[in-house]
Amino acid sequence: MLKKRRKSNLSVLMVTSEAVPFAKSGGLADAVSALAQELDRSGHDVRILMPRYQGIRRDSLYRYPTPFSVRVGQEIYTTAVYEGRLGDSSVVVYFVDHEELYAREGIYGTSAGGYPDNLRRFSLLSHAAFAIGAFIGWEPEVLHAHDWPTAIVPVIAQRRAAIGAAKPATVLTIHNVGYQGTFPVGELPHSGLSWIDLSESQLLHYDSLNLLKAGIVNADMVTTVSPQYATEIRTPRRGFSLDKVLAARKENLVGILNGVDYDVWNPEKDPYLDAKYTPETVALKDRAKHTVQSELGLPITNEMPLIGMVSRLVDQKGFEELASPGFGALPDILESGETQVAILGSGEERYEYYLRTLAHRYRNLSVVIGFDERLAHLIEAASDFFLMPSRYEPCGLNQLYSLRYGTLPIVTKCGGFVDTVEPASARGGTGFFIEEACPSAISEAALAAVGMWHSEHGRIDTMRRAAMKLRFGWEKAAPSYVSVYERALAAVRS
Ligand code: ADP
Ligand code: GLC
Repeated sequence: MLKKRRKSNLSVLMVTSEAVPFAKSGGLADAVSALAQELDRSGHDVRILMPRYQGIRRDSLYRYPTPFSVRVGQEIYTTAVYEGRLGDSSVVVYFVDHEELYAREGIYGTSAGGYPDNLRRFSLLSHAAFAIGAFIGWEPEVLHAHDWPTAIVPVIAQRRAAIGAAKPATVLTIHNVGYQGTFPVGELPHSGLSWIDLSESQLLHYDSLNLLKAGIVNADMVTTVSPQYATEIRTPRRGFSLDKVLAARKENLVGILNGVDYDVWNPEKDPYLDAKYTPETVALKDRAKHTVQSELGLPITNEMPLIGMVSRLVDQKGFEELASPGFGALPDILESGETQVAILGSGEERYEYYLRTLAHRYRNLSVVIGFDERLAHLIEAASDFFLMPSRYEPCGLNQLYSLRYGTLPIVTKCGGFVDTVEPASARGGTGFFIEEACPSAISEAALAAVGMWHSEHGRIDTMRRAAMKLRFGWEKAAPSYVSVYERALAAVRS
């Protein structure tokens, strides 16, 4: 595909631990790939650097014939580089192929916890961002790092510039401030940074190394994934101890709402759906509902709404409040006898266990533990409501997908939810808000939505159509990233 070349074209290397379709644990993977493709469509030269995990097959990729050496502090890693493309776009993806560090089943670890050598794994990736330029003969103007795994990219850029290397502009996007990449101080050598960086104004935070903090301090620009979250993370309640560090970068911290890739999430052409539907034919959702009910062993009926969930099973997503033995909201919702619930998820072992236990007890609950793209699409289409009782939510993509599928979100009042869902009211609305992330408020909001489904179906239908007509495309977000890149470049030049 020939790129439209413009005078103001930028060259950007995204350095990331996840990108669909190659590796995904959550929304980061969706966001990185969709942003890269949108920027590519507007004529920018955007490429991606990521590890070659075990699941990424080498046979469809090009292997560079020469070995790729990356120095990380005192250690020199010799690896190979593979090259591929993102879908049918012209976005080039470079894979660092280090058998010992990356050829594993998980991205960060297993359901029992993170891999113990994650600092080494992701420091290699971050340093590779600087070695790849000379290797492939392409020096990007902007390095765009995402989340803690690559948060030391801006730090490395500063340290190299201090000894005379050209400095690319650096942008760090925080997809979730709850994950900071903290490691014992003794592991510092694995990061390739030096003891000089071990100060409270840099890497050190409450006696540990904190990669995200160092990234925030050193990046030319910092972004996060919704305007509301950009405000929240500067407060002690939502800043996870980095609120002051973030507040100090307020002038260079920008909230840009994620978009949706409507080529992938669109009920009008979703290949996983037997019956595609539009706002006018939204009643066809019932076909997907029957499929899900029969595949998941729920009673097949149109007389009950279906609440869907597709999620990482972690504290952030509200599973403690939902499913803890003795006080979770889920039993209340199920015992009403007014709704069915279908949950697809994977994550912490204890939540997998609680949910399985509840699924044995309640016939109107079905739980699938695992990661399943097809079922995620089916649940979006089949459900009447999509439950996201998150303790906090930087942006949230599932509620955006739900809106497009006419599946009304039931969400907590925080982060990206506030920016994207309009509460049900006499004037309409597109979803339902949970006042706070606690069990009683979750069941209250869910049962209010279910009650409306039973008694005011016309209202639900109006809300559905309104939700389906909303658009949160990447074409809105991409120009905001371009402005951020330009500001970062201006900061480097000044
Ligand atoms: P987060 O990134 O915090 O997990 P988001 O709502 O931004 O939350 O994105 C989650 C993404 O991961 C969505 O695309 C969702 O469909 C997907 N996802 C999460 N868990 C699963 C699963 N078990 N199977 C399939 N897709 C999943
Ligand atoms: C994170 C956040 C989520 C966001 C996603 C993509 O994982 O938890 O809210 O949508 O990143 O930016």
